[in-house]
Amino acid sequence: MKATVNIGLLGLGNVGTGVLNILTHNADLLCRRTGKKLMVRKILVKDLSKQRGLKMPGIHLTDRADDILDDADIHIVVEAMGGEFPAYDYIKKALKNKKFVVTANKEVVSKHKKEFFELAKKNKVDIYFEASVGGGIPLIRSLKVGYAANKIQTLYGILNGTSNYILTQIEEKQEEFDDALNDAKKMGFAEADPTMDISGLDTAYKLTILAAVAFKMDITVNDLSYEGIQDISLKDIVYAKELGYRIKLLAIAHLLDKEEINFRIHPTMILLDHPLAAVRNELNAVFLVGDAVGESMLSGKGAGASPTGSAIVSDIIDIAFDTKIGRFYDTQGKAHVSIEGVDDPLYINKRNLEDELHQPSLVNICDIYSQFYLRLAISDSPGALARITTVFGENEVSISKILQKNTVGLDAEVVVITYHTKEEYLRKSVQVLTTLSVVKHVYSVIHVGF
Ligand code: NAP
Ligand code: HSE
Repeated sequence: MKATVNIGLLGLGNVGTGVLNILTHNADLLCRRTGKKLMVRKILVKDLSKQRGLKMPGIHLTDRADDILDDADIHIVVEAMGGEFPAYDYIKKALKNKKFVVTANKEVVSKHKKEFFELAKKNKVDIYFEASVGGGIPLIRSLKVGYAANKIQTLYGILNGTSNYILTQIEEKQEEFDDALNDAKKMGFAEADPTMDISGLDTAYKLTILAAVAFKMDITVNDLSYEGIQDISLKDIVYAKELGYRIKLLAIAHLLDKEEINFRIHPTMILLDHPLAAVRNELNAVFLVGDAVGESMLSGKGAGASPTGSAIVSDIIDIAFDTKIGRFYDTQGKAHVSIEGVDDPLYINKRNLEDELHQPSLVNICDIYSQFYLRLAISDSPGALARITTVFGENEVSISKILQKNTVGLDAEVVVITYHTKEEYLRKSVQVLTTLSVVKHVYSVIHVGF
């Protein structure tokens, strides 16, 4: 008789439903692959009265988390609720009760990863979080195992499906920002609070997780600077294209000399022929440079029920595969399996390279050099351009291109592209520009290239 792995699912929204569908539709395939039946036994929801239109034979739906967390027959707890609390408490309790945990929740992993790793190790279980970054892309596993031979030097990522979807729709269909965001909500890409997506915070959580996995660095969102896409307009997207660029929300981790590192997130104009420029809609991608592998890119659907479900089920399979140490075995010839009796301490967290987590030496974004694009409205009067270029010059910012685009009433719209300059100097220039009477508005300041 096949051993059974019993799963308790916390949450039955977009992601929870995706997980349930994959486990149901691919049940035979997964059983053949793992040699075990992967069974969802219980599901936690907030609102028991909600109509879900799902067939769930033999599954107990509950609104009491302890029905799952205290159930000795549940081996794996899959957390797909979102938010910091009560997810944090439930994950901790599951680990303390010696259950393996799989989560899609980037916020809770970002904030509590070290505590979770230590608790998992102490209780001889593990926490898996493939779905928390990059949706369906097997990114965490690739970084932990596939690229393990490398020292990662640089990593650029498009890590938010909602933002990438919005930028793509604005460019390709000239759709309004709010309409594109509403579509992303309907398709189940956006967070319960979509300001997390468009403000860059969701990407920031994800970058802290990649910092741990790719660089073994323990950082929080307070250690990086992040900016979202909320101020990007169709005009910027059109002008970027005219100049040979596409705007993407990029997460950047760049190892500098002396082991110093800078982590940042901001809209970035990238050359149209760069592979990241071709990443459309809800797709995510990570472009990295490793000292052995060189340049490499992973890409795939970064949001949505099914791709995210795929990542979660891959974690469940990884746990279920672990028969070597008898985590799931038929103890006395019965179909009941147990995770008790794990007696190989060397095995535990063998792949959890986050054990090496350390505090990095961080470089502030103000000390980073970049090119910049600025779009301004200035008064269309003699000497106005000269006043502006003087401000840049006085702040050590050298101009590569300056273009007068349109005239709007009495004002002129001007686009400036700078040469590489320190972010600090650029910020000072913008500060001064906003005080000039000839400058009516600074609409946008966007990083160019990387
Ligand atoms: P969702 O559609 O809002 O679903 C949340 C589910 O959790 C609902 O079933 C809800 O119950 C339940 N829930 C929420 N709070 C609860 C509580 N306090 N007690 C009991 N049940 C609770 O969210 P989602 O889009 O599936 O996202 C879930 C998680 O996956 C988040 O961490 C998100 O960041 C992450 N994620 C999402 C995606 C994506 O594409 N959506 C991709 C990767 C990762 P009711 O149904 O009764 O309301
Ligand atoms: N809201 C997230 C996004 C879900 O749009 O990328 C995937 O983590």
